[in-house]
Amino acid sequence: MSEILTTAIHWYGDQLELLDQRRLPTTESWWSMTTAEDTAAAISAMAVRGAPAIGIAAAYGLVLSARQQGDTASRETLQQARDTLAASRPTAVNLRHALERLDAVMGEHTGSELAARLEEQAVALHTEDLERNRRLAEHGAMLFTNRVRIYTHCNTGGLATGGHGTALGIIRTAHEKGILQHVYAGETRPWLQGSRLTMWELLRDKIPASLVIDSCAGELMRQQAVDAVVVGADRVTANGDVANKIGTYGLAVLAHQHGLPFIVAAPCATLDPDTVTGADIVIEERDPAEVTAPGGQPMAPADCPVYNPAFDITPASLVTAIVTEEGIIARPEGGDIAAHLTGC
Ligand code: MRU
Repeated sequence: MSEILTTAIHWYGDQLELLDQRRLPTTESWWSMTTAEDTAAAISAMAVRGAPAIGIAAAYGLVLSARQQGDTASRETLQQARDTLAASRPTAVNLRHALERLDAVMGEHTGSELAARLEEQAVALHTEDLERNRRLAEHGAMLFTNRVRIYTHCNTGGLATGGHGTALGIIRTAHEKGILQHVYAGETRPWLQGSRLTMWELLRDKIPASLVIDSCAGELMRQQAVDAVVVGADRVTANGDVANKIGTYGLAVLAHQHGLPFIVAAPCATLDPDTVTGADIVIEERDPAEVTAPGGQPMAPADCPVYNPAFDITPASLVTAIVTEEGIIARPEGGDIAAHLTGC
């Protein structure tokens, strides 16, 4: 039953290696980077993805920049690299929080001392993430007592985090406790994080699971084959609205219609009390070619107009519970988010 610790981020002091998630499940290839610009490019291109993993990679990217600058490194000289990393993907608040954590040591040091302090923070962010996810998963698994059948979306596992995962972490822990009956993983168009990544992780850990196409979710619920929907988040606003992978909102509506719990796993670093509601979140729009020609294979007329938002907003009113490493925010509508953060 023991978990194979999936990790997609390796740090070697002067080099960052990222498992290129675009090539999974067929090829496990590592992309090595030595600059903040390479790292930002890997984030934008989705070689590394998932809110916590993006934050960790960006933190290491800034360390690489400080290392490159040597004795001249300072808050001012690192500003451009920081801006490039911060702009690499707009929706996941973990990226902003990771860079803000590094800001805290930025004004206090320069040169190699600054690089060392930044590295300390980046490594701590990375290692703490695994421990936080395990705690989150313990809280989340307590929501279930019987042998539960869970529907999940996108990839929220070891690949998307410092290890264990958030929503997938809850699933893993439920499996370890013997209370998981089955997982349905939605394939998650257009990048197929569900089929390529989540199923890869679930199969490695021998967790009973079936892949379904996204539009199968409603039918599964009608058949009473699902007991709960458990998803991750890229940002939770002050009022409890949730930004997550496109398709999440539709699942929340379906869960509501079928009287099923809709559970959001969101570590404290994903909570954003500074943003008032989901309407204030910048939703990333991505290249039309991801929809018209996934993997370079044409699936639509070449000149087909496309709307391709990477995320959607689920209103707090549809969320049954938000699970963090500090506990459970039940029925978050009305905004308990800032109060909860005081415990984080
Ligand atoms: O576009 P992605 O693959 O980065 O989107 C990932 C998600 O939406 C995840 O659900 C979210 O980042 C949480 S990962 C623990």
